[in-house]
Amino acid sequence: MTPITVRVDGAAYTDDVEPRTLLVHYLREQLGKVGTVVGCDTSNCGACTVHLDGEAVKSCTVLAVQADGCEVTTIEGVARGAVLHPVQKAFHEMHGLQCGYCTPGMIMASIDLLKDNPDPSEDEVREGIEGNLCRCTGYQNIVRAVQHAAAEMRGDTSASNGHSGNGHVRPAVVDTAAAPHVAVQA
Ligand code: FES
Ligand code: FES
Repeated sequence: MTPITVRVDGAAYTDDVEPRTLLVHYLREQLGKVGTVVGCDTSNCGACTVHLDGEAVKSCTVLAVQADGCEVTTIEGVARGAVLHPVQKAFHEMHGLQCGYCTPGMIMASIDLLKDNPDPSEDEVREGIEGNLCRCTGYQNIVRAVQHAAAEMRGDTSASNGHSGNGHVRPAVVDTAAAPHVAVQA
């Protein structure tokens, strides 16, 4: 066993782990951070995405010992108390989820994307989340949610009419065809 010390969602932990323990298993099984999920055995799906020292990583591709001395943020650490992170709020408002299994990873990847590009085009959003798979294929509303969050985070009030000042079309209208089970609230 190897001792590690990490900060996870703002709290410090010191634990003994096996050198082969994956970060995702440490988070889920030793810390109980089950908001971070495992969706594949092949490092493909991105459902396990967390931030390691501020960068999005697939936590099934990182050993827990590699996180020693690092800051880890999971989906459980992005809200501020009862106040959702703007990206969480946007996924809710724009119906950016169906079964929700990919959602923690999608949100963590999207937050990282918006850190580097606060006003992404649709293509840039799709490129930014290309490492994250949605088996419900709800990509239309996921992209809209990310752009909606981007506008909110920039304080772009014109997002509410579907357009930003730079001419990018903003996601004011939910594509219910892309989420047919969702009833849009009037
Ligand atoms: S569980 Fe990590 S990429 Fe699928
Ligand atoms: S919402 Fe079901 S996998 Fe993405």
